[in-house]
Amino acid sequence: MNNTIIVTGGAGFIGANFVLAWVKLGLGTVVNLDKLTYAGNLENLQEVQHNPQHIFVHGDIADKALMANLLAEYRPCAVVNFAAESHVDRSIHGPEDFIQTNVVGTFHLLESVRAYWNGLGAEEKSVFRFLHVSTDEVYGSLGKDDAPFTEHHPYAPNSPYSASKAASDHLVRAYHHTYKLPTLTTNCSNNYGPHHFPEKLIPLIIHNALKGQPLPIYGNGQQIRDWLYVEDHCAAIRRVLADGRPGEVYNIGGWNEKPNLEVVKTLCRILDAKQPRKDGQSYVNQITFVTDRPGHDQRYAIDASKLANELGWRPQETFETGIEKTVDWYLAHQNWVDNVTSGEYRNWVATHYTERGEELA
Ligand code: NAD
Ligand code: TYD
Repeated sequence: MNNTIIVTGGAGFIGANFVLAWVKLGLGTVVNLDKLTYAGNLENLQEVQHNPQHIFVHGDIADKALMANLLAEYRPCAVVNFAAESHVDRSIHGPEDFIQTNVVGTFHLLESVRAYWNGLGAEEKSVFRFLHVSTDEVYGSLGKDDAPFTEHHPYAPNSPYSASKAASDHLVRAYHHTYKLPTLTTNCSNNYGPHHFPEKLIPLIIHNALKGQPLPIYGNGQQIRDWLYVEDHCAAIRRVLADGRPGEVYNIGGWNEKPNLEVVKTLCRILDAKQPRKDGQSYVNQITFVTDRPGHDQRYAIDASKLANELGWRPQETFETGIEKTVDWYLAHQNWVDNVTSGEYRNWVATHYTERGEELA
């Protein structure tokens, strides 16, 4: 065994940010296994394409033969599992892929890792970690005066996405409890930042604003999310991987609760300053209220004090600094946006927003 790690889903939004930072920090070799679904994009990994510290493997976490080979060949000291179907609206349209990857895929991955771990010597066994990246959405929805989610909050997932992530979290817990596999689970709030696929709120709004298209707000826009800059999430995962206690769960959040409408108006104001509309009007005029998401969770909020107190993690970015960096990244990477918003993306946008009363092809 050495300091090589296997990352799954490292061509997606958070996984790619994690891989890029890991290589940049010189923390060791990363073997990056990704199925390259619509959400996985090799362009996210261009910076490390020729770096020997990054090895990309195209494949599925559910492929046990492939996983067994990778584990035997690279003998990693950790597996970090980002691979998932991650979009709530898509889970409402078609839940099957979510069950397949998030539940069945995680199960097969756990089986592969358990077999590998069982075959290690005592010293290597004690060092090895399986870190499962999960979401605050497993805890369900909060009322406006409820305390933020702690790690002890009961699970109450409301969408097929969050239910499939909850199931995967339970499997990870059971593999620690039953087989003593040294697992770590992190439950994080909404991320934003570079390489975020423009089907999610923040990159969608930036994209549509610049294209002169409507900025769709579900329902009244008063739903609250707790936003964390993606690099802060990646730093938190590194802290948990280094010093988290096996079998434990760590909540990760930015202490940044914002109603959706406020987030969208903030984006409009930043864009007004950085890239004003040709007609001199504000991007706010493009805001349009559309049919709400079925079963829309009202509020998420994370209490990340366990991670802060035990492992000394704190986010580096405020929402104000993080959102500005994000807009700057999108303005500087219009080619990336153009490349990922072709084909399949257009079909999704056309179907999904037509149902909500908007034509957004
Ligand atoms: P994403 O959709 O951008 O990326 C997912 C990646 O997983 C893609 O590269 C995709 O190709 C890959 N993938 C999908 N199925 C696979 C399979 N069967 N085998 C191998 N690879 C597969 O997602 P993201 O936003 O980067 O989220 C990463 C993880 O973090 C997910 O587990 C998600 O639940 C969790 N999470 C996301 C957020 C958020 O705000 N985006 C917040 C908290 C937790
Ligand atoms: P999203 O980015 O899909 O993340 P999640 O559903 O996992 O929190 O959505 C963030 C919030 O923004 C959520 O309350 C739904 C809302 N939303 C809109 O109002 N309009 C949109 O077009 C999208 C994609 C999301």
